[in-house]
Amino acid sequence: MVGFALIVSAFLINSNRPVSNAGGKGDAFTRASGKCAECHAQLQYSVVHEFELSAHSRRGLTCLDCHRPAANQRTKEHHGFVLSAKLTAGNCRSCHEGIYQEFLRSGHAAVSWAAIYGEKGLSAEEVAFAERYQPGRAKRPPHPFVSLEGADAIKGGCEQCHSVGRPNEDGTIGNCTACHTRHTSSVAIARLPTTCGQCHMGPDHSQIEIYEESKHGVLFAAQQSSLNLAAPARDLTTRDMFVPTCATCHMSGLNGRKITHNPSERLSEFLADPITNRRPNAAAGKANMQAICSQCHAHETIERVYAQAQKVVDLTNDRVNMAQSIVDGLRKDGVLKGKPFENPIDFVLFDLWHYDGRTAKHGAYMGGADFVQWHGNYPMLQKTVELRAMASDLRRKR
Ligand code: HEC
Ligand code: HEC
Ligand code: HEC
Ligand code: HEC
Ligand code: HEC
Ligand code: HEC
Ligand code: HEC
Ligand code: HEC
Repeated sequence: MVGFALIVSAFLINSNRPVSNAGGKGDAFTRASGKCAECHAQLQYSVVHEFELSAHSRRGLTCLDCHRPAANQRTKEHHGFVLSAKLTAGNCRSCHEGIYQEFLRSGHAAVSWAAIYGEKGLSAEEVAFAERYQPGRAKRPPHPFVSLEGADAIKGGCEQCHSVGRPNEDGTIGNCTACHTRHTSSVAIARLPTTCGQCHMGPDHSQIEIYEESKHGVLFAAQQSSLNLAAPARDLTTRDMFVPTCATCHMSGLNGRKITHNPSERLSEFLADPITNRRPNAAAGKANMQAICSQCHAHETIERVYAQAQKVVDLTNDRVNMAQSIVDGLRKDGVLKGKPFENPIDFVLFDLWHYDGRTAKHGAYMGGADFVQWHGNYPMLQKTVELRAMASDLRRKR
């Protein structure tokens, strides 16, 4: 009798538990997601409203679909629910595993973290996995600025952008909401240039500035309202996006091409390096990107851009090699001593490739003439003269 009563009451309690609060849908007091929204619409209207605008909400997902603990996550009690203490890519992969796997192979995952901290914080398996797809980019020492600038500076600066590929406590990598936002989970927002421009900006990677100056950016500003930015990813055509944004060229599956969460698939050169070399997948990378351009352009236009950009890359390599040899010569002859970034001349050389050289190369590929010239080649010339003057000064003072 007692056993039976216990089973029955356990069943009753269980059936009343809001396993999924989708049951709340249609209730008079809530439009979003049952119990959670009941409180949170009062507390943070914005969160609930953003969720209501999402494809997730239209498809009947609830708050708990993301906020319930995923594998290996710490849990916490919350007004009768069990929530995850910290959300990660692990809370998305349960439904988007294929995309997560593609993301893991990209420069936005472990590689991005390793650019600051090296292997620190990543497990041996995570490093090995990233190395398989991005050779040489995860197994590396921490960046010299980590010790030179100190933990607080690095956390508030570098990490804010590079955490798109942070290692999480639950064993997953990264953060999908850097491009999708937490509650809209929208392709429309991910397709906006300003979304990528949160991180891809400034003198060391001026992609947003270059884009805004390019014909593509000008047309986007003029015609954004007639683009169908919210078109579902799998059916995206040039009728929806007849002007490209960052996402169109680097990620979208335009007119039936493959969508990718690994932008490296469409790149042929390491433009961010001091000396640019071809990527291991250079031929495929170039073909994949050109297949996107050719949805809107004739072959000749595309070849012209690539041929011209290649010349800018070669020229920049020569200029950086020349500048590097001036400083290397000083070290070899014992004129320059100490660790990297202990002498003013180190900063002139660093700015020459890290600001000006990169900017010229990015400008050449993405339609930014002013960036090739006045933010690229001109300051490279100026700094080369400065380096020579500093070098002869140092040799004289020796
Ligand atoms: C009885 C009201 C109530 C309910 C029901 C409720 N919450 Fe909350 N929630 C709160 C309050 C109060 C806070 C604290 C807000 C603050 O710090 O300003 C909070 C904070 C949060 C936070 C941020 C802080 C944290 O603990 O991580 C999240 C995320 C959250 N709630 C999600 C949910 C989800 C998801 C549900 C449904 C499964 C839910 N809440 C149900 C009242 C509620
Ligand atoms: C698509 C997944 C997803 C859905 C669905 C979702 N959330 Fe969230 N929510 C997140 C993520 C990711 C965060 C960031 C949490 C973190 O960093 O640990 C977050 C954060 C929050 C926060 C803290 C906000 C802040 O800025 O402090 C609250 C409150 C919250 N969610 C409530 C809700 C409520 C209520 C719902 C349903 C109406 C909901 N969430 C649905 C993913 C989701
Ligand atoms: C419970 C399963 C589930 C979870 C968890 C989930 N999603 Fe989704 N997601 C879906 C479904 C279902 C769709 C709609 C697919 C469709 O309509 O083709 C979708 C669609 C999307 C879309 C496309 C939206 C659009 O505007 O077309 C994005 C982006 C997205 N999810 C991102 C995320 C992110 C980021 C997370 C984690 C923070 C997440 N999802 C968590 C099930 C989920
Ligand atoms: C505003 C966001 C942002 C900040 C802050 C930032 N980065 Fe980056 N970083 C990027 C982006 C975006 C790229 C990609 C550049 C490209 O490919 O053109 C990048 C590229 C790099 C690269 C070259 C790629 C590689 O894997 O070798 C290194 C190294 C790097 N960052 C280290 C750092 C360090 C160290 C700091 C802090 C001292 C820092 N970054 C601060 C956004 C940022
Ligand atoms: C660098 C920015 C960025 C990051 C990080 C990112 N996404 Fe996306 N995602 C996009 C863009 C851009 C699109 C739209 C591509 C297009 O134009 O069709 C997209 C599309 C999607 C879609 C719809 C695609 C489809 O096939 O239906 C889903 C679902 C999605 N992302 C989930 C995720 C998940 C899960 C993660 C984390 C593992 C993630 N995204 C990380 C930029 C990003
Ligand atoms: C949260 C910051 C952030 C956002 C948002 C972001 N990126 Fe990045 N991106 C980075 C960082 C950091 C790197 C450099 C990783 C490395 O090589 O160390 C990077 C690298 C890249 C690369 C070079 C990859 C490679 O293999 O070298 C491309 C292309 C790129 N991002 C495109 C995009 C596009 C397109 C968007 C928008 C849809 C976007 N990113 C949004 C931070 C971001
Ligand atoms: C018209 C197409 C197009 C648009 C729009 C575009 N890019 Fe690019 N992007 C390219 C091409 C082409 C390259 C060089 C490809 C190669 O290496 O073969 C490139 C290179 C890059 C790189 C350099 C990766 C490296 O090697 O360091 C990053 C990062 C990047 N783009 C980000 C962005 C961002 C962010 C935006 C928007 C603000 C954007 N791109 C807009 C076509 C485009
Ligand atoms: C979604 C369509 C689309 C894609 C993809 C695209 N473009 Fe464009 N592009 C345009 C439009 C539209 C214009 C403006 C044409 C006009 O002036 O009528 C343009 C203009 C240009 C121009 C300037 C032409 C001139 O003479 O002023 C160049 C160069 C260019 N694109 C190169 C590229 C390259 C290279 C790629 C691929 C890396 C690319 N575009 C991808 C739509 C696209």
